[in-house]
Amino acid sequence: MNVLAIIQKKRDGNILAPEEINYFIKNYQNGAIPDYQAAAFLMAIYFQGMDSGETAALTEAIVNSGETLDFSLLGRPVADKHSTGGVGDKTTLVLLPLLAANGVTVAKISGRGLGHTGGTIDKLSCIPGFQTELSRSQFLEQVRSLGLAIMSQSAEMTPADGMLYALRDVTATVDSIPLIASSVMSKKIAAGAQYIILDVKAGSGAFMRDEQQARRLAEEMVAIGRALGRKTVALITAMDQPLGLAVGNHLEVLEAIATLKGEGPSDLTLLTIELGAELLVACGLAEELAEARGKLAASLRDGSALAMFRRFVAAQGGDPSVLEEPQNLGSPAFRAALRCTQAGVVAGLDARAVGLAAVLLGAGREKKGDSIDLTAGIYLHKKIGDSLQKGDILAELFTSSAGRLVAAQEKLAAAYLIGEAPTESYPLLLGRVE
Ligand code: URA
Repeated sequence: MNVLAIIQKKRDGNILAPEEINYFIKNYQNGAIPDYQAAAFLMAIYFQGMDSGETAALTEAIVNSGETLDFSLLGRPVADKHSTGGVGDKTTLVLLPLLAANGVTVAKISGRGLGHTGGTIDKLSCIPGFQTELSRSQFLEQVRSLGLAIMSQSAEMTPADGMLYALRDVTATVDSIPLIASSVMSKKIAAGAQYIILDVKAGSGAFMRDEQQARRLAEEMVAIGRALGRKTVALITAMDQPLGLAVGNHLEVLEAIATLKGEGPSDLTLLTIELGAELLVACGLAEELAEARGKLAASLRDGSALAMFRRFVAAQGGDPSVLEEPQNLGSPAFRAALRCTQAGVVAGLDARAVGLAAVLLGAGREKKGDSIDLTAGIYLHKKIGDSLQKGDILAELFTSSAGRLVAAQEKLAAAYLIGEAPTESYPLLLGRVE
């Protein structure tokens, strides 16, 4: 096969055969194809796109570049959840124990946060002693015995994705739907889940700011799941304002625990139950969504989801006393309040700006590998639609470094749009793709 001919074929808008895509990925991985040819190939995909057969073939080639997990011998439904990333999105921390408490086995491989979006591994790292660097055998054993395990991404799985992502990052080819869809789905498929629920965010705090783009991404990922034999459902959900009230790792863990106790914010609880209900039905553990929602809500009320979270924390070496004594999570040294200077209504709350204000406080990374302040973050006292009196607290800011407060406060103040009435309504659930 000829590399140049493959690049030309894609450049001219033709459909590549699976063997050509496979050949390209294999030879890029082993160094036979240099970065400059791979960059040209990515740019050709960026402009010409890929059809669903090509995208599935690209995903499979990336899966085959490394180790994979296989849970088929367990004889139970094994599921995974993925969010395309947002601000204040701690859904995974609530959803996974909730699912496990309802008979769904969950094996999740997660990443760290980058930029204004958070990551599950950082959140779990707030819990004293919690281990996210599990070996393959520890991970498999915990999935088998407890029915729930989370570990951080390992270099042995989907290594071609790591190489391609690094190249996309420096060649302006990150935001291509087939490239994003294959990158995300390759990691889910390599991790062995048979049932996948995707939370595709749309709005200012999301990767896809536009709802139509988010829908296209969701359709692409669901099509890959179908082509590769994984039952996949996607919900398209709003990320115009942060999810819940807490933004920042430590605050988000506290909010997740409160939600597992049935005391969480309504948007977070609703989204968790909707995502979970889709999986319960997909796995055959409920006949229909209404029944599934009822089961999940009952597990939040009767303490069974919280009990599963406790077992999960203990199994991964974490201190379960944080469930009763939140001060054991540590606390930030400095705090400040942002107050409103006029009466009115919160008409807008820009999720991206809130996320960036949290990064200024130390809660997020500007680049991969940066260390972060796990206790830094923002607690939102007011969200869209809330009415305000002059002097009310809009939000509180937390950090270990007092010098970070002023810039973050300015950024956060600019995130709030105060009006006389909400400019538009903001439904959380925007669509569903099966
Ligand atoms: N997340 C991924 O894992 N891959 C992408 O390409 C974009 C977001």
